[in-house]
Amino acid sequence: MNRFAGGMALLLCWALGGTAVADAVSRGAYLVRAAGCIACHTDAKGGGPVLAGGRALKTPFGIFYSPNITPHPKMGIGSWSDGNFLAALGHGIRPDGSNYFPVFPYPSYAAMRAEDALAIKAYLFAQAPVARQNKAHDVAPPFSWRWTVRFWKWLFFRPGPWRDQAHQDARWNRGGYLVHAVAHCGECHTPRNFLGAMKSSRFLAGTRDGPEGGIVANITPDPKTGIGGWSTADIVQVMRDGTKPDYDNVQGSMAEAIRDGLAYLTDDDLNAIAHYLRTVPAIENSLQRQPK
Ligand code: HEC
Ligand code: HEC
Repeated sequence: MNRFAGGMALLLCWALGGTAVADAVSRGAYLVRAAGCIACHTDAKGGGPVLAGGRALKTPFGIFYSPNITPHPKMGIGSWSDGNFLAALGHGIRPDGSNYFPVFPYPSYAAMRAEDALAIKAYLFAQAPVARQNKAHDVAPPFSWRWTVRFWKWLFFRPGPWRDQAHQDARWNRGGYLVHAVAHCGECHTPRNFLGAMKSSRFLAGTRDGPEGGIVANITPDPKTGIGGWSTADIVQVMRDGTKPDYDNVQGSMAEAIRDGLAYLTDDDLNAIAHYLRTVPAIENSLQRQPK
């Protein structure tokens, strides 16, 4: 190869490499929204910078504070390798080998494809680093002990990517992937046991003990207590702007999940989610407040 051809080849590699990175960043920008990372990792109430953490998450076990996930080398995750990132999202494991608390919804993200997780990392690393110190969780023992998570994981955590089902079409499989892995609808809509694990047999059946102690709707296709009476278009509409078929608006954490995430999804993806939801097992679960 002469020098000119060598130079051209190098230039071509550089250009292609650059395109691949730009492509990952833009796919990551989309996925970061779909996955709700921004809502949870931004202290919007306290006026904190985007993705720099500090948002309080109230749980029955105490208050957790999301960490800074900007690429700041010391206060964020700027020094992390791809392997560190995949271990965190896919297995709930910290760079030092200890465990994350499952309030970080890795039990759902574990089903995300590695290429999608790495696109999210590419996006995060393309943002400006923010110097903001992480805040310690306000949780009492034994729930503050990270080593106890080992037993929790042994009991409840089944990692592994979402697997497309050959007898279903592409829309159903895309919807299932988004519902289970990326948009993690079950983390809020599935009731939990006394150790905070999702009851998989009650998938999406709703709960009275939602993220802010509020009611989270039953979104299984049960005609009486779920959304069995909604059309696919009705379900798409609520995810796009929060409007329900009765013209009421969703509130609280759902309104936030829409504003910072679901509202940005393509029509195809919202349709896929709605289509998939109509095929999950219908579960009767009335969440009306009991009269006092
Ligand atoms: C429901 C709130 C919530 C959502 C949604 C969420 N996280 Fe987190 N995340 C947390 C909490 C809380 C922790 C800290 C857990 C701990 O201390 O064990 C955490 C920890 C992390 C960490 C480890 C940081 C460190 O310094 O060790 C990374 C990386 C991370 N999240 C990335 C993400 C990404 C990427 C997304 C979106 C795909 C996301 N998170 C979505 C709440 C959330
Ligand atoms: C952060 C928690 C959270 C996540 C994540 C979440 N939801 Fe919700 N969702 C809620 C809450 C809380 C309500 C009840 C809002 C209200 O009553 O105003 C709700 C309400 C709804 C409703 C309206 C049901 C009705 O009968 O009024 C639909 C439909 C819905 N969610 C679908 C979804 C889908 C699909 C996903 C995943 C793509 C999802 N949600 C993810 C918290 C969440």
